[in-house]
Amino acid sequence: MKTVKLNNGVEMPQLGFGVYQIPLNETAEAVYQAIKAGYRLIDTASIYGNEKETGEGIKRAIDEKLVTRKELFVTSKLFILQAPEAKATETIEQSLTTMGLDYLDLYLIHQPYGDIYGAWRAMCAAQKAGKLRAIGISNFKSAKMIEFVGLNEVKPQINQIEVNPWNQRIEDQEWHEKYDVQVEAWAPFAEGRHDLFTNSVLAEIGAQYGKTVGQVILRWLMQRGIIALAKSVRPERMAENIDIFDFELSKEDSKKITSLDTKESAFFDHDAPQQVEWFMNRMKETDK
Ligand SMILES: NC(=O)c1ccc[n+]([C@@H]2O[C@H](COP(=O)([O-])OP(=O)(O)OC[C@H]3O[C@@H](n4cnc5c(N)ncnc54)[C@H](OP(=O)(O)O)[C@@H]3O)[C@@H](O)[C@H]2O)c1
Repeated sequence: MKTVKLNNGVEMPQLGFGVYQIPLNETAEAVYQAIKAGYRLIDTASIYGNEKETGEGIKRAIDEKLVTRKELFVTSKLFILQAPEAKATETIEQSLTTMGLDYLDLYLIHQPYGDIYGAWRAMCAAQKAGKLRAIGISNFKSAKMIEFVGLNEVKPQINQIEVNPWNQRIEDQEWHEKYDVQVEAWAPFAEGRHDLFTNSVLAEIGAQYGKTVGQVILRWLMQRGIIALAKSVRPERMAENIDIFDFELSKEDSKKITSLDTKESAFFDHDAPQQVEWFMNRMKETDK
């Protein structure tokens, strides 16, 4: 698996497996199958509610000697910290316990809301204590990322943001490169929105290389130097999505993909009032 070196020297696999929206009773099996298919980066979050099952899939793969813990790169995320800071420390401990792990390879502030500075201080302390190998942010727009870097001593290693053919984040990637914060793509397939998997431009590009639309997208992200997470509950698609290291998109084909950019989220805007309202309600629900 190709790796990327983060700004603190930690090596991270460039392609990973995400477990968002996988039904609870399928998560452990999906994680196990993904590891079996060759994925080493596994991405979950406390708000997905499946940290436990993710940990079970990992444990089974380790017990069956498919991999060692060291060969895996496991991510989880802190949802929204209301305060006090000690609660973030507690949440990190809770994720570790729930997943049955001694350390996480990456831990992210999931959303750009709440006490992000208190959360960051707790995460820096946990990193120093060896419980988190890398730490970062998620869903921070470039302006917010720059402010966050400017106001903290420790720079985030990662910003996990939506990147897909409809929302390519080309300028955002340039800002992240300037600040040496690695971009990681969530929803690389835009969860199939706007008929992504049957898009004629992507399908025609793929046909030239004997590859599918999904493979073209993940390869395009690899060539842009972006870390990508793909999700599938189907072993045949897990195998398809990881089979992208034996071809290279030409410059013309990459340009054709660039022409698909709408520069708009296929989901929502994190600054839209109704969206922030939705997150605040979600936060209150999870705090009960
Ligand atoms: N930080 C954040 O706020 C955030 C937000 C969203 C996601 N994420 C992370 O990013 C990961 C990936 O994003 P995502 O799960 O939202 O969406 P995604 O990976 O863009 O799309 C997943 C969808 O595509 C289908 N699919 C997968 N491979 C396919 C293929 N080769 N051909 C046709 N269909 C295929 C899957 O169906 P099947 O499962 O039926 O195959 C599923 O419906 C998540 O699992 C999560 O870890 C993070």
